[in-house]
Amino acid sequence: MQLNEVLTDRQQRELEYHKDHAAANEAVLHEDFSYDVVEPGPRRWWNQYWAMYTYLLEKDLAGKKVLIIGAGFGEDALVLAKVGAEVKAFDLSPDSVSIAQKRAEKESLDIEFRQMAAEKLDYDSDYFDIVVARDILHHVEIEETMSEVRRVLKKGGILCFNEIYSHSITDRIRYSKIVDKWLYPKMTRFIYQQDKPYITEDEEKLSEKDVNSLLESIEILECRKYFNCVVTRIIPERLVLISKLDQALLRVLSVFAPLLGSRVLVGGVVGK
Ligand SMILES: C[S@@+](CC[C@H](N)C(=O)[O-])C[C@H]1O[C@@H](n2cnc3c(N)ncnc32)[C@H](O)[C@@H]1O
Repeated sequence: MQLNEVLTDRQQRELEYHKDHAAANEAVLHEDFSYDVVEPGPRRWWNQYWAMYTYLLEKDLAGKKVLIIGAGFGEDALVLAKVGAEVKAFDLSPDSVSIAQKRAEKESLDIEFRQMAAEKLDYDSDYFDIVVARDILHHVEIEETMSEVRRVLKKGGILCFNEIYSHSITDRIRYSKIVDKWLYPKMTRFIYQQDKPYITEDEEKLSEKDVNSLLESIEILECRKYFNCVVTRIIPERLVLISKLDQALLRVLSVFAPLLGSRVLVGGVVGK
C-alpha cells in the first residue's frame, strides 16, 4: 500500500475512520441497489440528492467520461454507470473501494475503482467530461483538489458538487452553547437515527468563502441551489412534507438561501 507512505496526517485520520466505517456498513453488500433517482417518473425537487441527478441527467450521460471523487461505497458510480456513462471512481479508503467494487460486480457494471487521494490524482490531463463530487470536498484540501479537478477535466468539462455547507453567521447559532451542548445532542438520534453521527474529526462544512472560491473555477454556472434550512439541522430528511416546505421556503427566500441553507448544489462548466 504505497499510498499510505505519503499520506498527510489528515488523510491518515480519514483513512482510519473509514476503515471502521466500512466494517460497520458491510451490510450494504447484501442490500438491493436502487436506481430510482435516474428512473423515469416524478422528480423529488425538494431533495438535494435528486436535484443533483436532475441536473446531471440533462447532460446526456451515455458514453460520457465521468470521474467520481471520494466515491465512498460507490452509489454515484453505480448510478452513473447504469445510465451509460464511462465511470472511473476513487476513494482514499481501500475498505470503501473494496465495498464499491463488490457492489459494481454484483450489479454487472464495468467501473474502474481505485484507491487515491483527491489532492493528487493519477489520471491523464484533459480526460474527463464530468467530475462529480458529493460529500467529499469538505473532507479534503479544496485548493489542491480543485487544481487536480481542473487538470483532469477536458476543456468545456463539467463539475458538479453537492456538499454540506453553512454560512459563517448561521454557524455561530449552530455552535452557540445552548444549541451545541443542549439541543443538538438531544436531536442527534432523531435526525440520524444513531447516537454517533457520521462525522470525521477533520471534516469541515463548506463555508460561503469555500463556495465562492469553488465558484471561481466555474466559467459557466448552470446550477446553484441551496437546500436544508431546518432539514438535517433539526428535522430528519425522511420527513417528506417538512422537507418540501423547507425547500419551498428556500426558493421563496432565494436571496437569503445562502445564509439559511445547510447544503449547496453547484454545476457548471469549468474554466481552463
Ligand atoms: C462522506 S463520504 C462520501 C462518500 C460518497 N461521495 C457519498 O456521497 O456517498 C466521504 C468520503 O471521502 C473519502 N475521503 C476522505 N478524504 C479523502 C481524500 N483526501 N481523498 C479521497 N477521498 C477521501 C472517505 O474515505 C469517504 O469515503
